[in-house]
Amino acid sequence: MHTYKAAPDVDVVSSTAEIPGIGKLCINAFVIHAQEPVLVDTGAVRESDDFMAALRTVIDPADLRWIWLTHTDFDHIGSLHRLLAENQELRVITTFLGVGIMGLTGEPLPMDRVHLANPGQTVDVGDRRLTAVRPPAFDNPITVGLRDERSGILFSSDCFGAVLDEVPERAEDLSAETLRQGQVFWATVDSSWLHKVDRAVFESDLERIRALEPAMVLSSHLPAAQGSTTERLLGALAEVPDAPPFVGPDQAALEQMLAGMAG
Ligand SMILES: [Fe+2]
Ligand SMILES: [Fe+2]
Repeated sequence: MHTYKAAPDVDVVSSTAEIPGIGKLCINAFVIHAQEPVLVDTGAVRESDDFMAALRTVIDPADLRWIWLTHTDFDHIGSLHRLLAENQELRVITTFLGVGIMGLTGEPLPMDRVHLANPGQTVDVGDRRLTAVRPPAFDNPITVGLRDERSGILFSSDCFGAVLDEVPERAEDLSAETLRQGQVFWATVDSSWLHKVDRAVFESDLERIRALEPAMVLSSHLPAAQGSTTERLLGALAEVPDAPPFVGPDQAALEQMLAGMAG
């Protein structure tokens, strides 16, 4: 778990998960130092203690006013309830479905502390407006990313993630081929439905993101990417419908792995 600055007013709180036999995947949350400070996602469940310690190095959690929960997967909700318990002024921006799924955890979100935002809708956080954006790829129908209208930064949730051998702090430090391969592979795992999409419809959805001209793309699972990299990110995603579908190891492979470990 470590932190770094992606932009003058955005800190990244990042950890790296090692996926056996596959590679490394960063798990990012972001602090937007807005007039009403915003935390975008809250880290992984198993790392909550480390996440909170890292978060405290970039902001006092008592100063946060908003959590933008891009979706409710376990790598995004890790410290959600803890933060809400610590800070009564915090509100959670999510979707109706997000509230519903969190209700199934046995710890429902308090309805008076929820702010619902559908794609296209905007939340005012004092010195800037944040617009909800549905990314072109996602693994959960709750997913809503956001665009910071002041900085032009796009927070894309799982979309544009990449499985890598090593995780730098800047996507530009990866070779073009490493970034492309890592991104295509991640999308085949995380958004396997992309193999079924109508190519023309998908292209027009990518065009929608291109037209936003992000100053930077901050994905939950990719090092910070400057706007000049957006075209490469979109190009990799465009390849996914024709990429080999991901098939996980089967029982025979698992037994081989376990035998290897025992050996
Ligand atoms: Fe996810
Ligand atoms: Fe994720």
